[in-house]
Amino acid sequence: MKTILVTGGLGYIGSHTVVELQNSGFDVVIIDNLSNTTIEVLDRITSITGIKPRFEEIDLKDKEAVMHFFKYYKVDGVIHFAASKAVGESVQEPLKYYENNIATLTYVLKEMIASDVSNFIFSSSCTVYGQADELPITESAPTKEAESPYGATKKMGEVIIRDTTKATNLQAIALRYFNPIGAHESAKIGELPLGIPQNLVPFVVQTAAGIRKELSIFGDDYPTPDGTAIRDYIHVVDLAKAHISALNRLLNGENKAKCEYFNIGTGKGSSVLEIVNAFEKATGKKVNYKIAPRREGDIISAYADTSLANKELGWKAELSLETSLASSWKWQESL
Ligand code: UD1
Repeated sequence: MKTILVTGGLGYIGSHTVVELQNSGFDVVIIDNLSNTTIEVLDRITSITGIKPRFEEIDLKDKEAVMHFFKYYKVDGVIHFAASKAVGESVQEPLKYYENNIATLTYVLKEMIASDVSNFIFSSSCTVYGQADELPITESAPTKEAESPYGATKKMGEVIIRDTTKATNLQAIALRYFNPIGAHESAKIGELPLGIPQNLVPFVVQTAAGIRKELSIFGDDYPTPDGTAIRDYIHVVDLAKAHISALNRLLNGENKAKCEYFNIGTGKGSSVLEIVNAFEKATGKKVNYKIAPRREGDIISAYADTSLANKELGWKAELSLETSLASSWKWQESL
């Protein structure tokens, strides 16, 4: 049985990935500092899979603790989710983001190399492409100047990993996520809302639940069919499964380069209005909304060309937009 370290394993994408790892027969050890989640998630994962993952409450900024972890645990691979992810906050507190997302990455990589752990999966983002010149976006599209320190940490993270794979035994896959939504079908794990949601689907869901008065649709004058911006929304369980495929590729030596990049999306773009309509259809709930000015830093349209991931990872998103939105709603109701 292979043992996998999942950093940030009690977070939104991390927790869903831990479930899929356990379902696929991996032994999991989680590191999380509980900065954006709660310890109850550990019991919730256990109640889904019947297996309690090992857990270490470690802040990856604690270099010594990271070193001790790798001395104590023998792991076969690392899936690295732990990072801060609020775009607006990153503009206000850039150093927090460079420390939380970049310094910690270097500590983890350094200790992996010292302990001869060579398999690494990185949470990257379609944000590295900015507004791509061609749609759908392929992995060979040029990366662009980041709009925020958060985005910059994803771009820099990829560079740090690439350079490290060139100089050491490390082999890595960066998964460039499009927009993750939804929750596990059990409604036992999902995205934990902290304050006012910044992302679209959590805001839609809270509006339908009456927690927010109305959704502001940021811009209806974009050059798109209905004027609202387009994104590629992927069910978090499909996204989680992509990590298992990527990990197996490394463990089985099927990778074609020391450092590889894959888009993880559905390949289908949906506008903000289409999301509102699809949510209402999937749940029978009404979403009050108004049209508001564009949000600074937003791009017009982004959706993935997923053919490389389909071919090389043997992975494909399977769950529909309606299923994804219905699961977001079921999760909200359970809260
Ligand atoms: C945001 C981040 C991005 C991050 C991604 C994944 C920004 C500028 N970008 O991307 O860096 O990688 O989340 O978490 O924050 N919308 C509304 N009303 C709302 C909220 C959103 O109309 O209340 C619109 C947005 O303008 C956008 C779409 O919905 O067109 C999706 O927004 P969001 O969920 O925040 O994702 P991204 O902007 O793609």
